[in-house]
Amino acid sequence: MLYILDTGNLKDIRHCKAFYPLAGVTTNPSIIAREKTDFWNLVKDIRSVIGAEKMLHVQTVQTTAEKMVEEAQIIKERIGGNLYIKIPIGEEGLKATMELQKLGIGVTMTAIFTPAQALIAAKAGADFVAPYVNRLDNIIGDGSRVVAEIVQVLEAHRLDCKVLAASFKNAQQVHKCAMAGCQSVTVSADILKAIITHPMTDVAVAGFQKDWQAAYGEQTILEL
Ligand code: E4P
Repeated sequence: MLYILDTGNLKDIRHCKAFYPLAGVTTNPSIIAREKTDFWNLVKDIRSVIGAEKMLHVQTVQTTAEKMVEEAQIIKERIGGNLYIKIPIGEEGLKATMELQKLGIGVTMTAIFTPAQALIAAKAGADFVAPYVNRLDNIIGDGSRVVAEIVQVLEAHRLDCKVLAASFKNAQQVHKCAMAGCQSVTVSADILKAIITHPMTDVAVAGFQKDWQAAYGEQTILEL
């Protein structure tokens, strides 16, 4: 399972890079706009914080295949490293994906809501498909079931495309996708924290501290 951080917030990226086994960062136009700053400076800063090896997914804002390819090439040139261009599913997006595959530029096909969309994106050469779990759950869909079906259909057709489940609002949604076998998830810093948090863990740790201090006071193993 690859854990990716879904944010453009540099403070969150620095924090999560230090404390979690992070595979990279995803952004989209809304996430970038939220930071209210210069696009190129922000994306370059994200790259410099995560380094060249971790994945960075940056979404095109173009609407034609030709311009998507042009934008992808400029992003690749200026940002470099382990980069994926996020492209929303659609005719122009599929055409751009097929072009970018030939050019050796990675693609994450995004705004996926059905296994049929995911399958055709994978056939076009997308490296990742990003289904939106919470947005499906919000309309009484079943986001994790869609993710499970995408995993199944890509395996059935032996396609070398990973599922990058996205749009999460809680840790349970992430866990269901993990159980469905999706290879990667992109989540906020809050959800990473929720994943590792459990009240019984807090109780257990407090008990260890109390028992240790009763016997050894404030000394730690380093001082013994
Ligand atoms: C992936 O990067 C998606 O763009 C993102 O997870 C969507 O999340 P949202 O539904 O919370 O906007």
